Amino acid sequence: MEKENVDQLMNLCSRRGIIIPSFKIYGELAGFYDYGPIGLSIKSNLKSIWRKTFVKGLGSLEIESTIVGSDKVYQASGHINTFTDPILKCTKCGSTYRADKLLEEFFEKQKNYDLAKKVGHMTSDELQELVSKYNISCPKCKGEFSKITAFNLMMKTEIGPTGGTIGYLRPETAQGIFVDFKELYKSYNFKLPIGIAQEGKVFRNEISPRQILIRMREFSQMELEYFFNPEKADELPLIENQKVNDEFLNKKIYLLTREDQEKGEEAKKVSLSEALELKLIPNKIFSYMIYKESLILDLFGINEDLTRFRILMADELPHYSKGNIDLEIKINGKYEEVAGNAYRSDFDLSNHSRMSNTDMAVLDGGKSVLPHVIEVSFGLDRLFWAVLSNNLYKDEKRGWEVLMLNKSIQPFQYAVYPLQKDDSLIQKSIEAQRILQEKGYNVFYKETGSIGKRYAKADEIGIGKCVTIDYNTLEDGTVTIRDISDASQVRVKLNDIGN
Ligand code: ATP
Ligand code: GLY
Repeated sequence: MEKENVDQLMNLCSRRGIIIPSFKIYGELAGFYDYGPIGLSIKSNLKSIWRKTFVKGLGSLEIESTIVGSDKVYQASGHINTFTDPILKCTKCGSTYRADKLLEEFFEKQKNYDLAKKVGHMTSDELQELVSKYNISCPKCKGEFSKITAFNLMMKTEIGPTGGTIGYLRPETAQGIFVDFKELYKSYNFKLPIGIAQEGKVFRNEISPRQILIRMREFSQMELEYFFNPEKADELPLIENQKVNDEFLNKKIYLLTREDQEKGEEAKKVSLSEALELKLIPNKIFSYMIYKESLILDLFGINEDLTRFRILMADELPHYSKGNIDLEIKINGKYEEVAGNAYRSDFDLSNHSRMSNTDMAVLDGGKSVLPHVIEVSFGLDRLFWAVLSNNLYKDEKRGWEVLMLNKSIQPFQYAVYPLQKDDSLIQKSIEAQRILQEKGYNVFYKETGSIGKRYAKADEIGIGKCVTIDYNTLEDGTVTIRDISDASQVRVKLNDIGN
């Protein structure tokens, strides 16, 4: 079976309503997508796996904070001043472009790969120099650009009927966790280290949304903020009161160091213990989070050969980070960041302490401590796209596409099909559905269309098994079970399905 490309995936998504451009009947607004029932089901399954691994699996707390945040929150967090991208605006047609991305494409077209790589690390002044030097004009109308300015990515709103009170739609779920940290500490009386997690919608007014779910303006994050005493950065979490065994340090990952990037080399496989010894990973807690990520990739059905952990260069670090090692996954042949892993230190808690006059320190071993934080921030939509684009195949033998998802991600584990629209077969199909549902499976049911077409649909949307009820079922109580992995069919007793 051959892997399909992103265009074919997009085609499938639109044919089967897996994702839908938002407000499509009014013309598209770039950067916004809705999930249809199949897409939503796969997305919910990804969330459950994340919850099992990073919330329950780490003994973390999970919260839900508001989407609208007061401007004080985002002043303290640094987003009002620093959460910006460089923007170029055409003086003739008014089109806008993210300056570094426009220059990257320009130099790629010129086959000047060296400059194409460098622009992402440049300051606004350096980018401006290149725009002037290479006489870069608007790709749409060839108009001249005005000077590069900094564009804040947060979406602003006014609160209350008379307006005047400014709020922001959150650009990350993390701030709700930092702001509530002390309240949670008081109510739950937890001890360090502790993870606090949140999943939900975030908003960024991206200048150039692109590649469907890769750069959106409204998307979902699944974030874990792991709080610890900085003097105990090598103390691992207690999971169900068990100390974590150091064996996890033997795990090997693909790691791309800063040196590799400067030399243009590929990521190399190193064990977490080597990476820690070489101080490529800041501390043991950080290495444990990377370990958990490497495990979760397997559950998501992403082959580790498609992944790498990239140590960000100093000039790429987010304003809050003392070090990032991001998880990147190949999508359509290009590595894309799917999770940001950041050593946020006490950046956020100390800023909120100052701005709100609230002491954010907590007691650890009788001493007052301002905790440090390791953040694991997954973009759920990018993850969804990485999973689908790496698991969609064309099967020449079957003559259609097959979405080969891990069992725990499949939108339905079973489809139940009566061979024909006949009352006696439909009655048996209802019985089959009930048996499967009682065993805890998600079941898809369809009674119209040829059986071949219904198998094709099941394969395309990633349904694990199809149960077909035919006239033999009425005689001997057996059904056909067909498996998505190789289209093989076996006959089993109706009561044994789902065992
Ligand atoms: P990028 O460099 O690609 O813009 P980022 O560094 O801004 O990403 P973070 O701020 O670290 O990303 O956000 C955490 C995660 O949220 C990312 O790893 C990514 O999966 C997701 N994410 C960020 N921006 C977007 C977006 N515009 N659309 C979809 N997902 C996004
Ligand atoms: N919480 C990480 C980010 O969204 O920047």
